[in-house]
Amino acid sequence: MIDPATASSSIARQLTLTGVSVGFGGLKALTGVSIDVRPGEVVAVIGPNGAGKTTLFNAITGFVPLAAGRITLGEERIDGLYPHDISARGIRRTFQNGGLCGHLTVLENILAGLHSEVRSSIVGTVLGLPNARRAEREAVARARSLLSLLDIGRLEQQQAGTLSGGQQRMVEILRAIATNPPLLLLDEPAVGLAPPVRIQLIEIIRRLAKTQNIGVLLIEHAIELVMGVSDRIVVLNYGEKIADDAPAAIRSNKAVLEAYLGHG
Ligand SMILES: Nc1ncnc2c1ncn2[C@@H]1O[C@H](COP(=O)(O)OP(=O)(O)O)[C@@H](O)[C@H]1O
Ligand SMILES: [Mg+2]
Repeated sequence: MIDPATASSSIARQLTLTGVSVGFGGLKALTGVSIDVRPGEVVAVIGPNGAGKTTLFNAITGFVPLAAGRITLGEERIDGLYPHDISARGIRRTFQNGGLCGHLTVLENILAGLHSEVRSSIVGTVLGLPNARRAEREAVARARSLLSLLDIGRLEQQQAGTLSGGQQRMVEILRAIATNPPLLLLDEPAVGLAPPVRIQLIEIIRRLAKTQNIGVLLIEHAIELVMGVSDRIVVLNYGEKIADDAPAAIRSNKAVLEAYLGHG
């Protein structure tokens, strides 16, 4: 069991992909892709539809096998591990329709993100064990501190199902980082939100990465949305990395412009 108090100071680890290839039958979805994400760094992955962005996440999280290459988190090689073992090492992702429990409160949803760590102590709480009660109190304190980071402490007792779309995304992200994982993967987190809310959400993601020292890999279809908030932008096209640079350099990169224009 990880104590939630100590979980909030988890060891920062760098994610490194080296020459990663993934194939589906005859189709090469990724070819020799190398990327690294350092603690606290926001790296956006952009590229036209079908470029291999989601496949990249599936490879990192163990949902598809590599045809070539390697993936490490810190010193440890993680490709070839089962998805739940990769998740246990602190690589978290959110999914579209992220599955908050609509009838539970915001606080309870975030506590669910801490649940695997405090589960054994919840049994203890029922039995009235002092250590378990302390762990539970610390979990609640951690959840509250996360809510206050985004200035949404007032929503604590609101049912998640009654939140706006943007607020739900925030709570999903807080739940994903409740245990302070080294790495957060976000696949188009702002999709479907109104434009001002999209920008706000992406800025919040950056704030969380910086204050919590979490490496963030952020898939986004719209280049403009990630320009102001990414430390680096990786561009995929037909499964290959065609650029990996600071946002300003990406904006004027000829290969990138051609890839986007080519796809209309
Ligand atoms: N499970 C799968 N089986 C077969 N082909 C797939 C599978 N997942 C993705 N692909 C193909 O791999 C390519 C990359 O897809 P994807 O990673 O979803 O791209 P993106 O997220 O950039 O739009 C596409 O040609 C897609 O059709
Ligand atoms: Mg995709």
